[in-house]
Amino acid sequence: MLKAVILIGGPQKGTRFRPLSFEVPKPLFPVAGVPMLQHHIETCAKVPNMKEILLIGFYQPNEELTRFMFNAQQEFKISIRYLQEYAALGTGGGIYHFRDQILSGNPAAFFILNADVCSAFPLTEMLSFQKEHGEPNSFVILGTTANRKQSMNYGCIVENEETNEVLHYVEKPSTFVSDIINCGIYLFNPDIFQHIGKVFQKNQQDMLLEEPTNGWHRAEAIRLEQDIFTALAGQRKLYVYKTLSFWSQIKSAGSAIYASRLYLTQYHTTHPERLASNKEGGPRISGNVYIHPTANIDPTAMLGPNVSIGTGVTIGAGVRVRESIILHGANLQDHCCVLNSIVGWDSTVGKWARVEGTPSDPNPNDPYTLFSDGKLTPSITILGCNVTIPSEVIILNSIVLPHKDLNRSFKNQIIL
Ligand code: GTP
Repeated sequence: MLKAVILIGGPQKGTRFRPLSFEVPKPLFPVAGVPMLQHHIETCAKVPNMKEILLIGFYQPNEELTRFMFNAQQEFKISIRYLQEYAALGTGGGIYHFRDQILSGNPAAFFILNADVCSAFPLTEMLSFQKEHGEPNSFVILGTTANRKQSMNYGCIVENEETNEVLHYVEKPSTFVSDIINCGIYLFNPDIFQHIGKVFQKNQQDMLLEEPTNGWHRAEAIRLEQDIFTALAGQRKLYVYKTLSFWSQIKSAGSAIYASRLYLTQYHTTHPERLASNKEGGPRISGNVYIHPTANIDPTAMLGPNVSIGTGVTIGAGVRVRESIILHGANLQDHCCVLNSIVGWDSTVGKWARVEGTPSDPNPNDPYTLFSDGKLTPSITILGCNVTIPSEVIILNSIVLPHKDLNRSFKNQIIL
């Protein structure tokens, strides 16, 4: 039997996701209409022999997380449990701390998934790859290719091209190492804990000598990437399965729009029922659009491509929305225009107002754009929760913190 572990981090993580992560833990932020984590859970639940999904993080268990887990268990008919770390233990420390829970019931193997990635999650392909390619008891990293410059923002993998063995692993190198990058999705077996255990013991000894070498001042704080993969490379233990399917990180709010686009495209094959279409009496739809059934949309509005509309959203006559996420309870009044933006929960955009950002492609993780005046400004526009934009103003490339009542136009600003 198999298990899956999703690393969800905690409140001190996801800072690049502010102000949106003030209102909801980042892993529950909706991407293409459903909480980010639901995409992971749905794919895990489909893997044959998957018995349990464990979420490991350092969030206090709150109502939202509990409700999400309860609903997901019902919908996907699988056990889902949350294990809370007493502090941030890193990507390897948390799974080591909870190794007894992961190993209970004797899973032959288990997946580890970073919560902040958007992917087609080719988990069954990773299992087949492990059987065909790896040595017995080897571990598999999901990899993809990036361009030379972008690769240095990720974990870089040098492989043996014949065997796909990982020969070198360098996390965020300062010079080019390889265009194969780590996707933050792994297939392990129980042996991994011996390797993490060795690092733990070494950390403990270092602590006794009062010279912590991992810089964390806690022996249990262990990073899979720097502490484990780097050491396992070249030991005929670690293999890379390269996927051609889509993958992206969700670090900044801007990258959530990019990830939404990828998942909405995937819905054509996985969930066509989630994609809106042009219907008599409905709004005009262009490209891939998700609309929650509780949203109230005027038939003269035009939506898409790449738009997600949340629960209870109201959209007035002649409104135009493109490349944007509109969160629950927002109100877009008649003839306003929202482009490349995230409109926060319960925010209002007044009549004929224009809320616009500049897309940050090709690097969806970079929330800022360097403008010709040399200033770094937010690229997409984000309205935090409960923001009011008056009629007939323009909000361009700006981030507006929650509960603000604006009274004029703004450009290239963070409005505190
Ligand atoms: P950055 O670019 O610095 O964010 O690095 P990264 O992309 O390697 O991400 P990072 O290692 O910070 O996080 C990868 C995933 O692990 C994310 O889904 C985090 O939420 C999660 N994560 C990171 N640190 C911890 C931790 O201490 N505990 C748990 N449970 N999860 C964590």
